[in-house]
Amino acid sequence: MKKIVVAIDGFSGCGKSSTARQVASRLGYTYIDSGAMYRAATLHFLNQFTVLTNPKEIQKALDTMEISFHHNEDTGKQETYLNGLNVEKKIRSMEVSERVSDISKIREVRLELVAQQRRLGRHKGVVMDGRDIGTVVFPDAELKVFMIADIHIRAERRQKELLEKGELVELKKIVENLSTRDRIDSSRAESPLTKAGDAVEIDTSLLDFEEQVQRITDIAEQKIAKN
Ligand code: DC
Repeated sequence: MKKIVVAIDGFSGCGKSSTARQVASRLGYTYIDSGAMYRAATLHFLNQFTVLTNPKEIQKALDTMEISFHHNEDTGKQETYLNGLNVEKKIRSMEVSERVSDISKIREVRLELVAQQRRLGRHKGVVMDGRDIGTVVFPDAELKVFMIADIHIRAERRQKELLEKGELVELKKIVENLSTRDRIDSSRAESPLTKAGDAVEIDTSLLDFEEQVQRITDIAEQKIAKN
């Protein structure tokens, strides 16, 4: 059976990554977390200890950035590496979350990461989540999903996630971070977050994890059968 591309886009904290990972596992596909790539790029830029503003410096930094994913046997999950170092935990910190939208706005950064994402998905059989997967990275994806959820519900989920990793963050601060990221991600000039015309919208506010995973897996299986 021919493989397809499943593109999952939506606002920050809608549960895209955990849903996409589980959908990929049910389909026997590879999961690619494009947000992790923007987060790793942000960490790389923070590591330069200077604010990069001119295109030449930005390109130089990008030329020394190597992002990869490796399977962790213990957790069964893919983890993100930057220049050979495991940065999975670091890229999920509030420090990176607070800077990531600004770094993701930079044209050169997007061009580089979109090219890498297209390479990762060139053989299909992937579930990729992000902000511009169905609109820019894979505009021909056979299935496009756009996830939305109430901001307070999203903030509570994110707070729980951070707490599980040992980081206690006030709910108000998370709501502020999510709404700032929503605003910057949706209004930037370079591939802003928008719903593709042919995307299926799923509001996860009132769905539990199993329901959202099953709904997307069912639609994907129908598309695969027709493909
Ligand atoms: O999915 P996430 O919350 O881990 O993504 C972190 C940030 O990366 C998000 O605020 C915007 C940016 N991003 C992007 O601009 N384009 C993508 N395809 C994925 C993420």
